[in-house]
Amino acid sequence: MSTGLSSALQRFPRYALLDGPTPIQRLTGLEAALGAAANGVRLYVKRDDHMSLGGGGNKLRKLEFLLGDARQQGADTVVTVGGLQSNHARLTAAAAARAGMACELVLGRVVPRSDVDYEENGNMLLNRLLGAVVHDLPVGADAMAAALERVRALELSGRRVYLAPLGGSTPTGALGYAACALEILEQSRVLGVDFSRIVVANGSAGTHAGLAAGMIAAGLPAAKVQSFTTLADAAVAHTKTVDLTAATLTLLGQGEGVATYAPPAPGDIQVDGSQRGPAYGVPTPAMVEAVQCLARSEGLLLDPVYSGKAFAGLLADVRAGCHAPGSDVLFVMTGGAPGLYAYRTAFRAR
Ligand SMILES: Cc1ncc(COP(=O)(O)O)c(C=O)c1O
Repeated sequence: MSTGLSSALQRFPRYALLDGPTPIQRLTGLEAALGAAANGVRLYVKRDDHMSLGGGGNKLRKLEFLLGDARQQGADTVVTVGGLQSNHARLTAAAAARAGMACELVLGRVVPRSDVDYEENGNMLLNRLLGAVVHDLPVGADAMAAALERVRALELSGRRVYLAPLGGSTPTGALGYAACALEILEQSRVLGVDFSRIVVANGSAGTHAGLAAGMIAAGLPAAKVQSFTTLADAAVAHTKTVDLTAATLTLLGQGEGVATYAPPAPGDIQVDGSQRGPAYGVPTPAMVEAVQCLARSEGLLLDPVYSGKAFAGLLADVRAGCHAPGSDVLFVMTGGAPGLYAYRTAFRAR
């Protein structure tokens, strides 16, 4: 089944941005720090923060397929949208720089902050360093409408523009995580470990949807993947993830002589809403504890907006005994550590 997925993926144009598979590492330091609270669960991380380009992170996997598509269409400029501290925006700027394309970022005020850390540090600092033109929209502006206007202006000036979606989360972008599912399955075969759960943050849903689509295409249950939503509430994130998984499977099944795949049963798409907190981008005590816990037990850096909240969810579930003793659980570290510099005050004096 996974051979079918591998050849289905090869039919799509892809622009290489990774240096090969990212490592899977066991968190023995964390297990020791948790002690009895680990409840006999073995914890691992898939280091999707461990990539050489632009600080790394999950968006590079999506951008491999999005830029493949953009280059096939002859684009010379990529435009994308996001919040001010978007990791997707930063990595689009890095990928465009690598591909020799111009990049414009249309960034809105999703999080109600106007302090210097948020506006100038973290991803914003790196966006400009990477040569992107940054459009910093006022509060209340519609980022997609502004981006479409900018695309029209650039096209009128003779540019060939590719508009990358919010978070890279279209079926084409999600192919990057279908490919990652395959990578995880191959690594788990080599390690001799059968992960009972693969845990990840959910923002625009493409990472979860891609992993779930990859599992289904490989003949495995989508319910192996569990996400913690950080952006939408659980019901909205669930619907979006179900729909995007189905659309990614449809895309994978297009073409002559290719296997087709049934959409996921909604109950197999596991989205947990317990860690989002009051709103997207607003720190929670559990996120701060999770970021500190992994930093101090393993020397690994989570981000405060996505993976910090998802890891808090994993820790809560492990402590509550939700994973069977002796099971192997994989957390996908999705990058975003530059965001820590925009959240300095959340971690001050702790
Ligand atoms: C660091 C990080 N982790 C996780 C996510 C969530 O990924 P997705 O948008 O595919 O749900 C994002 C999205 O921006 C991110 O930047």
